[in-house]
This record gives sequence, C-alpha cells and structure tokens, in this order.
Amino acid sequence: MMKLLSIILIFTLVSIDQTINALSWDETYPKGQVIPVNDFNVYSVGKSARNLSIIVIYDIYGFNISQTRVFCDRLASEYSVHVVMPDLFRGTAAPATGNRTVWMAGVNNWTKISTDLQNVADWLHKSFSTNKIGLIGFCWGGLQVVRACSNLSSLFFTGVSIHGSSLTPFEVSQLQKPMLFIAAGNDPALQPNISNAIEQSNTKISQQCEYKTYSDMRHGFVAAGANYSNPDNVRAIDDVQLTVRNYLDKINNISLRLSIDLYFLLTLLLSLIFI
Ligand SMILES: *[C@@H]1O[C@H](CO)[C@@H](O)[C@H](O)[C@H]1NC(C)=O
Ligand SMILES: *[C@@H]1O[C@H](CO)[C@@H](O)[C@H](O)[C@H]1NC(C)=O
Ligand SMILES: *[C@@H]1O[C@H](CO)[C@@H](O)[C@H](O)[C@H]1NC(C)=O
Ligand SMILES: *[C@@H]1O[C@H](CO)[C@@H](O)[C@H](O)[C@H]1NC(C)=O
Ligand SMILES: *[C@@H]1O[C@H](CO)[C@@H](O)[C@H](O)[C@H]1NC(C)=O
Ligand SMILES: *[C@@H]1O[C@H](CO)[C@@H](O)[C@H](O)[C@H]1NC(C)=O
Ligand SMILES: *[C@@H]1O[C@H](CO)[C@@H](O)[C@H](O)[C@H]1NC(C)=O
Ligand SMILES: *[C@@H]1O[C@H](CO)[C@@H](O)[C@H](O)[C@H]1NC(C)=O
Repeated sequence: MMKLLSIILIFTLVSIDQTINALSWDETYPKGQVIPVNDFNVYSVGKSARNLSIIVIYDIYGFNISQTRVFCDRLASEYSVHVVMPDLFRGTAAPATGNRTVWMAGVNNWTKISTDLQNVADWLHKSFSTNKIGLIGFCWGGLQVVRACSNLSSLFFTGVSIHGSSLTPFEVSQLQKPMLFIAAGNDPALQPNISNAIEQSNTKISQQCEYKTYSDMRHGFVAAGANYSNPDNVRAIDDVQLTVRNYLDKINNISLRLSIDLYFLLTLLLSLIFI
C-alpha cells in the first residue's frame, strides 16, 4: 500500500515538476543533431513555433560539453524555439592544462567569428525561413554576443550574455540592440560600470537592457561549469532559463508591437491621403 502511494506520489511530483533532476539532467529534454554548415558543424535542436531562432555561442570548452548542450535542449523544449550552436572552434577547445595563449590567439578573431555568424544567420533564413534571430553567449561567447549586437546588429534583434567574460565599458558602449546581462557572484560587477556605459552611449537601448547577478554562484555555472549534483546550482539554472525566456518574450513583443504600430500609422497616413 505504502509502495503504491509512493509510486503515485512520485508520479504526481514528476508530472507537476518539470524541473531538471540531478540523476536524469542529461536525459530530460529531447536532444538535437549535428549538421554541417559551410566548413563547420552546428548543433541544432527544436523547432520554432513563432518564427524565431536562437544562436548559442559556447564558452572556451567548446562544442561537446553536455551542460552547454542541455541548456540548448531545454530552451528549445520549454520555449518552443529552434536553437543552434555553431562550432566556431572547428573541433578544438581550450587545452585543459597549460598555456592557452596560442590557442586563444587562433580562435579569438572577430573578423572570422562575424563571418561565421553571418553564415549561420543566412542558413537559418534560407533553410528554416526564420525572420528573427537572437543570441545567447556563455563566458567568452558573452563577449562575442556583445560584439554581434554592435557590429552585426542588422542580423540580430537581441542578445543575452551569461557570465560573459572580458566585458568592458568600451565594448558595451557600441551596442545597437538591447541585451540581458547575467553574472555570477565572482564575475566583475555589471553595475554601475557596464550599465552606465550603455546609458551614456544609447539611452533608448539602455532602457531595454536588464541585469541579474547570482551572488552565490561561480563563473561558468550555467555552461561548462554547471554542476547538476548541486541543488543550488540546479535551482539557479532553472531561474536563468526562466529569466531568459521572460526577457526574450519582452523584447520580442516590444518589436512586434512596434511593427503593428507602424502598420497602423501607415494605414492611417494612406487613408488620410486618399480621403
Ligand atoms: C517567417 O517569416 C517570414 C518572413 O516574414 C515568412 O516568409 C515565413 O513564412 C515565416 N515562417 C513561419 C514558419 O511562420
Ligand atoms: C567533439 O566531438 C567530435 C566528434 O565526436 C570531435 O570530432 C571533436 O574534435 C570534439 N571536439 C572537441 C572540442 O573535443
Ligand atoms: C603563454 O605563452 C605566450 C606565448 O607563447 C607567452 O607570451 C606567455 O608569457 C605565456 N604565459 C604563461 C603564463 O606562461
Ligand atoms: C582573422 O581572420 C581573418 C579571416 O579569416 C584572417 O584574414 C586574419 O588573418 C585573421 N587574423 C588573425 C590575427 O589571425
Ligand atoms: C565593427 O566593424 C567595423 C568595420 O570592420 C570596425 O571599424 C569597428 O571597430 C567594429 N566595431 C566593433 C564594436 O567591433
Ligand atoms: C568600475 O570603474 C571604477 C572606476 O573606473 C573602477 O575602479 C572599478 O574597478 C570598475 N569596476 C569593475 C567591476 O570593473
Ligand atoms: C558538485 O556538487 C556536489 C554537491 O554539492 C559536490 O559534492 C561535488 O563535489 C561537486 N562537483 C564538482 C566538480 O564541483
Ligand atoms: C509575448 O507574446 C507571447 C505570444 O506572442 C505571449 O505568450 C507572451 O505572454 C507575451 N509576453 C509578454 C511579456 O507580454
């Protein structure tokens, strides 16, 4: 009897609580597939219910990290969105030990990365008729997202930096699209230096930017550094997923409303002309 009750209880808990569990964290969400695009691979998961795609830019540990892929799988599943993660390092990653300077010098090349991102965006437009692309980057990837929202701002409607590294007031002062910035407790503070730099360079964009710091988490906690055996880490990741979804909804709806407003304005103007 107790056994039956506990089975029912477990079943109820499982069906109510969709959050990730330490034992099955790697199996909770449907996985994607690796697709070759140009001369690199892309991890691709999910299907968009609303003409929106997300490009994830990984941290220096690269393409094969389960925690980073599970972030993609979960976002794709819970937000009903197509998520793609290009292998910008082309099969390499930061060497586990020793001096990373030489490896870093080879991959940390914005000219090359911006071409790759344009190719991924082209591929999304052509193969999936996506018309809106957002970016999410972890650590090193967070800085690439800042650069893409500055220098490739016509391709992307927003970006999210999750424990982004080497963010500077100069880099963020170039932003042309709003961003959500998430930091761990041991990352450099986002406020006031980063937020002030955006306010001073672009008031309109700064009003749509958001900042959130997870004080009890360490750098890397959502991607390669995620520890799914640690309940606090799991809870923080749950909250990051929710925060990202809410932010994307907000920015997506603002630009949706804007285009509807423009449509009404145009209709009004046209009807005035023809009266
Ligand atoms: C996405 O938007 C584009 C351009 O507005 C459109 O051509 C395409 O059919 C849309 N795709 C879906 C799946 O709604
Ligand atoms: C990831 O796995 C693929 C295939 O298993 C391999 O070719 C690639 O080198 C790996 N990448 C890294 C960074 O280890
Ligand atoms: C790493 O290598 C670079 C280039 O070879 C060198 O300039 C630098 O001093 C090295 N750093 C460390 C910490 O050894
Ligand atoms: C960066 O990449 C571009 C394009 O691939 C290449 O032409 C350039 O030499 C690279 N720069 C460095 C410093 O490696
Ligand atoms: C954007 O690209 C232009 C032209 O390549 C360059 O002059 C500028 O410094 C770049 N800006 C950023 C933020 O990378
Ligand atoms: C913020 O700027 C101040 C003044 O320039 C500087 O002392 C401080 O180190 C900066 N903080 C961060 C987190 O970069
Ligand atoms: C992950 O968290 C668990 C529980 O807090 C801890 O025992 C384990 O040492 C952590 N693993 C790593 C690699 O930090
Ligand atoms: C944004 O729009 C979607 C549907 O397009 C809706 O489900 C969602 O609740 C809206 N979010 C906000 C914050 O208004």
